[in-house]
Amino acid sequence: MRTEFIKPDINNCNYAMEKAAEILRNEGLVAFPTETVYGLGANALSPAAVKKIFLAKGRPSDNPLIIHVADINMLKELTAEIPPQAELALKHFCPGPLTLVLKKSKSVPYEVTAGLETVALRIPKNPWAQLLIKTAGLPIAAPSANSSGKPSPTRASHVLYDLDGKIDMILDGGACEEGIESTIVDFSTDKPCILRPGTVTAEMLKSVGIRLFESKPGGHAPKAPGMKYTHYKPKAQITVIKGEPSAVSEKIRLLVSQSTKPTGILCSEQNQHLYQNINVPVIVAGDTDKPHTIASNLYKLLRRFDKEGIETVFSESFHDNPLGIAIMNRLNKAAGGSIIEI
Ligand code: TXA
Ligand code: MG
Repeated sequence: MRTEFIKPDINNCNYAMEKAAEILRNEGLVAFPTETVYGLGANALSPAAVKKIFLAKGRPSDNPLIIHVADINMLKELTAEIPPQAELALKHFCPGPLTLVLKKSKSVPYEVTAGLETVALRIPKNPWAQLLIKTAGLPIAAPSANSSGKPSPTRASHVLYDLDGKIDMILDGGACEEGIESTIVDFSTDKPCILRPGTVTAEMLKSVGIRLFESKPGGHAPKAPGMKYTHYKPKAQITVIKGEPSAVSEKIRLLVSQSTKPTGILCSEQNQHLYQNINVPVIVAGDTDKPHTIASNLYKLLRRFDKEGIETVFSESFHDNPLGIAIMNRLNKAAGGSIIEI
């Protein structure tokens, strides 16, 4: 299959949007930008189209998909009910990087929900995502547009690298602003809980009156089935070193001196000066006072290590900021749990 790569111009995008919409209506696959990461979209109402997503990504079929809609009216058609706590979330954070798990309506195929009675729904605010949904006139099922197990794509070039020849079209809308996947909140029971942390934090949700409960791992089924799979894994082996900055930099210097493979260091802008005169690349993740910069760079940097042949990465921990839970959820997974506390 030839993958068409289009970088539409916002003032002259009718051709690109019509073409993408036609592909979706004909059960094809279109990768498109959202404010979090690129999604790999298919008509959510077509089981045949949805199955193609799993094939192209190599995704296990028991891992359900998020459906993207343009507005609340479209969302209502896919849910059996919207409880008051979910109404609050919709009012304050949608459109945006928040996904709501709700009881599904009959029109949602089980191919999307992997057999569950609930459905994950999101109203993206990225203008390309909005335009695509509206032009197609369809709800769009879309997981992150990476090969299964790789870091999520935050640039169209990442999608091309992973999925060239496996999907019909890639819409290049530039870099994704947020850089990590949406916060997922389960509103399908009377005890809402965060299933996946993101840039809409627990504090933000609580501040508008949403009562959050602990999610219960180890129940009869994983609540966000995707979370059980190895995620965000670059080829490089990452080790996170957590502790006071100067002690961390000492430890990283020692580990670098003992490393026999091509090695890199990941640190904050604030601590960059602690890594002078080391003979390996020192890569700045972002500014801890502006944690959005770290979130939006993270996946790009994980991919960069692989591209540059860096096989071992020693990283600072970036937990001490409002987005720390979301950032470290991704980085710790990329590290496969290899964390040293000092
Ligand atoms: O920001 C995002 O959420 C991106 C963009 C493209 O929207 N999408 C994304 O999709 O990250 P994906 O497929 O990579 O992750 C979706 C997660 C998986 O962990 C999946 O198990 C969970 O959502 N999920 C989907 N439907 C669910 C449901 N009904 N109940 C619980 N978890 C669900
Ligand atoms: Mg994903």
